[in-house]
Amino acid sequence: MANILKNKRIIVGITGSIAAYKIPYLVRELVKNEAIVNVVLTPSAKNFVTEITLANLSRNPVICEMFDLNAQKGGAWHIHLAHEADLMIIAPCSASTLSKLASGLCDNSLTTIATALPLNVPLLVAPAMDSTMFESPATQRNINILKSDGVIIIPPEEGELSSGLVGIGRLPEPDILLEKIIDVLEKWNYTDKKTFNEQKLEKATTETPNEKDKNYEQRLKEALEKNIPSLADSVEKDKWSAELEFTNLKRKLSGDKNYMSLAGKKVLISAGPTIEKIDDVRYISNFSSGKMGYALAEVAKDLGAEVLLVSGPVNITAPENVNLIKVTSAQEMFETILSNFSNYDIIIMSAAVADYTPAEKTEGKIKKKATGDKLILELKSTNDILAEIGKNKTNSQFLVGFALESENEIQNGWIKMKEKNCDMMVVNSANVPDSGFGSDDNTITVLRKDGKEISYQKLPKKICSLEIFKNILELTGNNQ
Ligand code: CTP
Repeated sequence: MANILKNKRIIVGITGSIAAYKIPYLVRELVKNEAIVNVVLTPSAKNFVTEITLANLSRNPVICEMFDLNAQKGGAWHIHLAHEADLMIIAPCSASTLSKLASGLCDNSLTTIATALPLNVPLLVAPAMDSTMFESPATQRNINILKSDGVIIIPPEEGELSSGLVGIGRLPEPDILLEKIIDVLEKWNYTDKKTFNEQKLEKATTETPNEKDKNYEQRLKEALEKNIPSLADSVEKDKWSAELEFTNLKRKLSGDKNYMSLAGKKVLISAGPTIEKIDDVRYISNFSSGKMGYALAEVAKDLGAEVLLVSGPVNITAPENVNLIKVTSAQEMFETILSNFSNYDIIIMSAAVADYTPAEKTEGKIKKKATGDKLILELKSTNDILAEIGKNKTNSQFLVGFALESENEIQNGWIKMKEKNCDMMVVNSANVPDSGFGSDDNTITVLRKDGKEISYQKLPKKICSLEIFKNILELTGNNQ
């Protein structure tokens, strides 16, 4: 049977209720079934579930703040998100959010998105609260208003409530919520969007008493038919592996000794290309985007390390809570890393350092008239940073190199590892399509000082980073 959830964008709204703990499981199931999930929390929901868990499970940034700068970069983000959705579910929905929805009060991200949801997108609301609150006339009135507005109410179940009372008000289990979502998606008629818009137009027109405004109908029709630009370009998709993160989290919580932690560790990571100036307007560089090094820095920080990121010029933003030193040339990177590395436990050279730099730098701009038909540029070798650290590191420091190879990858990787005295080498092939430079994915083989060689399939760079740290922790005996 076809998977109806596949590629469906589902907004999961969570409000402040004890039953919120059930929702990470729902998000996990939705993602497993290939839905695209955006989680939105009310400020009070944060008391019951954490943004980090939900971001990892949903593989998307979690929205909470109405004026979050990251969300703002797409313009009227709440409208875009609402218009891209195939379905929105609010579970658990507190009495307070029910009342806001019924009156159209938009005082946080969740109520704003729900109100901005186009009428042809199903909105499911699962009230969950103590039975007296649920049975109160105000709550019942609000539920009836929402029902008459076309909102699908998932009724609460009877049973033991967090107050200790027994009665109606329990949020149904995640599998029931999932079933309901699937059921609605299967039955909902999305196909006849135009007819629907026309229906909306009809309804709106009959409800608008402003007969004098002759252009109203036309303007409304145009507004309804206008395409809303996709959010895909503006919201960066986070490709965290929910499975891996979740497993690690579970291991940590259950006291399992195999969970990964870099707490107390200092990690230095180099990233990006270097730029070698020819004159004041021209330079030599390479195609490195810095994504691998930045992913390593983010993962190291998330695992609890203190991180220094030494980065060549890139177009990406450094992760929060990471110390960043920006450099330009190979020489600058060399000097920065050499003066810092002795303070670090783990050093990872993922930067694509230029091997050569112009032997002489020309001030100003080299003029064509002065060079004639040909410009012969003399290049000299740069300092090999990795090799230099390899020579000077102590036994307690762990050094990781990267090797970009286009042939005899593994063999050359082992040679480089030995020559540069590394503890581990990450080999990436220059030949795998959509992998390596510029891509969000990478195809790596990890060569370890204990002789093990582990090849991975193409994976998002953050997952590659997790695997790299997993290997480092195994070799340093620091699994704790
Ligand atoms: N590296 C470095 N300093 C340099 C050049 C490279 O520290 N001047 C590091 C890179 O950061 C990487 C490793 O050396 O961790 C291997 O880089 P790579 O370009 O694959 O190999 P090279 O040693 O430069 O040799 P070749 O280009 O001949 O393959």
